[in-house]
Amino acid sequence: MRVELINIVKSFGALRAVDGISLTVGEGEFFTLLGPSGCGKTTLLRTLAGFYQPDEGTIRFGERVVNDIPAHRREIGMVFQNYALFPHLCVFDNIAYGLRARKIPKTEIADRIGRIIKSVQLEGLENRPPSKLSGGQQQRVALARALVISPQILLMDEPLSNLDAKLRLSMREEIRRIQKDLGITTIYVTHDQEEAMAVSDRIAILNRGRLEQVGAPREIYYRPESLFAAEFMGSSNIIEMDVKGYDQARSMVLAEAAGQSFSFSGPKPPGARVLLSVRPEWIRVVAGPADGEKNVFSGTVLSSAFLGSMVRYRVSGPGGKPMVIEVHDAEQENIRKDGETLWYKLPADRPLMIRD
Ligand SMILES: Nc1ncnc2c1ncn2[C@@H]1O[C@H](COP(=O)(O)OP(=O)(O)O)[C@@H](O)[C@H]1O
Ligand SMILES: [Mg+2]
Repeated sequence: MRVELINIVKSFGALRAVDGISLTVGEGEFFTLLGPSGCGKTTLLRTLAGFYQPDEGTIRFGERVVNDIPAHRREIGMVFQNYALFPHLCVFDNIAYGLRARKIPKTEIADRIGRIIKSVQLEGLENRPPSKLSGGQQQRVALARALVISPQILLMDEPLSNLDAKLRLSMREEIRRIQKDLGITTIYVTHDQEEAMAVSDRIAILNRGRLEQVGAPREIYYRPESLFAAEFMGSSNIIEMDVKGYDQARSMVLAEAAGQSFSFSGPKPPGARVLLSVRPEWIRVVAGPADGEKNVFSGTVLSSAFLGSMVRYRVSGPGGKPMVIEVHDAEQENIRKDGETLWYKLPADRPLMIRD
């Protein structure tokens, strides 16, 4: 079911935790609210669920305005970070809880639970209490319990945060698979950029109760519209440059940073300074300045880390801020030591000018 938020505001005293958010989540879409701790993700989700009444704004599920509909009648499934299972009930009874509350006949309950237990892969564990389950299994029970009532909308608030790193990876794939199988409209909350990119159709980046950007993971990664979005979504080098001219015919911006010139393709910048966002994997390490290449800069290696699939350097960058450079497939690479000079080439066609 489609979800539409129009100018939602929710305050706690003087704090506008959600400060005028409008967005639409499409039928069957996996939509993620992404942002740092305290940016208002949980508040927005709880407002959607009906646990909070918004101070302003309209919430629509499909065509219906649900502002005045209580949480238990909004037909949503909800999964929390801490699972919130009933400790004295076994797996089956935990999952059955919502169905029994809805007075569903016994045989249908058994049938629906059988199916959902299969799809979250908890077969054989029906009679165990939560205390005898691993964290991942408990989270599956929580997911099954949310899904078994056939909700129109699934809301999940940092459901994987309490799991260890490896389990987090496999559970997020599973959540995505189940969501696709069921085609259920899902709104997911996380502060983990990689997790958001891996599971989502679209992501909304939140900052201080407001939307910074909404888009598909690739759109936000490759075309961040703000400094915050560029820095929050993956890692990015932000380089400040002075604009020296514009080559209209080739659509090239001529710029300078720390006395070194740099030209890159793009529209004419609005002012005399630009902020460029350059991803670490777009930068190439080169032998030196003598090979005639343009846009080559040098810096001092501050640190280097061999990470298997790449070497990650921190290098003093133009303007003094450290730059992060990633060299993939580094078997042949002669890894530079700290304090050595490293020459690198910024890509002329990749950097993005961003709004400050
Ligand atoms: N019940 C509450 N009472 C007062 N302030 C709250 C309450 N819940 C959240 N806040 C504040 O609202 C802001 C947003 O919180 P929250 O929605 O929990 O953020 P997130 O989930 O993104 O970490 C924070 O500054 C938080 O301290
Ligand atoms: Mg939260």
